[in-house]
Amino acid sequence: MRLLFIGDVVGRSGRKVVLDELPRLRARYGLDFVAVNGENAAGGFGITEPILEDLLGAGADVVTLGNHAFDQKEALVFIARHDRLLRPINYPPGTPGKGSGLFKATNGADVLVINAMGLIFMPELGCPFRAIDAELAACGLKQGADAILVDFHAEATSEKQAMGYFLDGRASCVVGTHTHVPTADERVLPQGTAFMCDVGMCGDYESVLGMDREEPLNRFLSKIPRGRFEPALGPGTLSALAVEIDDATGLAVRTKAVRLGGVLAPTEPLFWVE
Ligand SMILES: [Fe+2]
Ligand SMILES: [Fe+2]
Repeated sequence: MRLLFIGDVVGRSGRKVVLDELPRLRARYGLDFVAVNGENAAGGFGITEPILEDLLGAGADVVTLGNHAFDQKEALVFIARHDRLLRPINYPPGTPGKGSGLFKATNGADVLVINAMGLIFMPELGCPFRAIDAELAACGLKQGADAILVDFHAEATSEKQAMGYFLDGRASCVVGTHTHVPTADERVLPQGTAFMCDVGMCGDYESVLGMDREEPLNRFLSKIPRGRFEPALGPGTLSALAVEIDDATGLAVRTKAVRLGGVLAPTEPLFWVE
């Protein structure tokens, strides 16, 4: 099974590179399942329903979120209408939407996707380790799910590494999101879980985390807000993680970071056509 996870889509530049590239990637590499983190897709803050539908229309099977999930207040309403939109599972009980779902891949596999948020330098939510553990107890690898993908939306690399080892051998892939900067540590962990601390963003990298540089620089220098954060509008890079999964075990065989377009060094072709 061929899975692609695409990191935080930031604003118009991020949307453009994903909408331009994803249909081609899906066809060229015969991708069976694609998940996209869309927490910054609407002007850098949250997601709207038309943007969600664009991402699904371009070939995403699922869109995950993070700390910006409800920056666009309408998401509190439309998330109930969309089975394929997930917000972090460890939000307080009663939060609209859901944090996990079982989805059919192109190859017929049932893929469990879980979105969770870390606690270090993040809002105070429930324990992500226990929340994910409960999901896996209800629907484990080869006991309800043919493959399991976890989007762990967190700031600290320590917390992300700990989650990787916590789930090693129990999930097909644990991928970090939120920092918008890709790490260079993608690999298959000893028990067969593909892991990457942070997959990076889809957006203009000549920026500060996808935002136009001027206002972040101003705030670091003067400590006085002068304007709003606006997405940078230069050419976007698509950042993702490709994972090949053994259909028999649901565990990862190999994994590779993907970067296309914009200013970061490109990594295409993916290993499926090496
Ligand atoms: Fe983000
Ligand atoms: Fe985030």
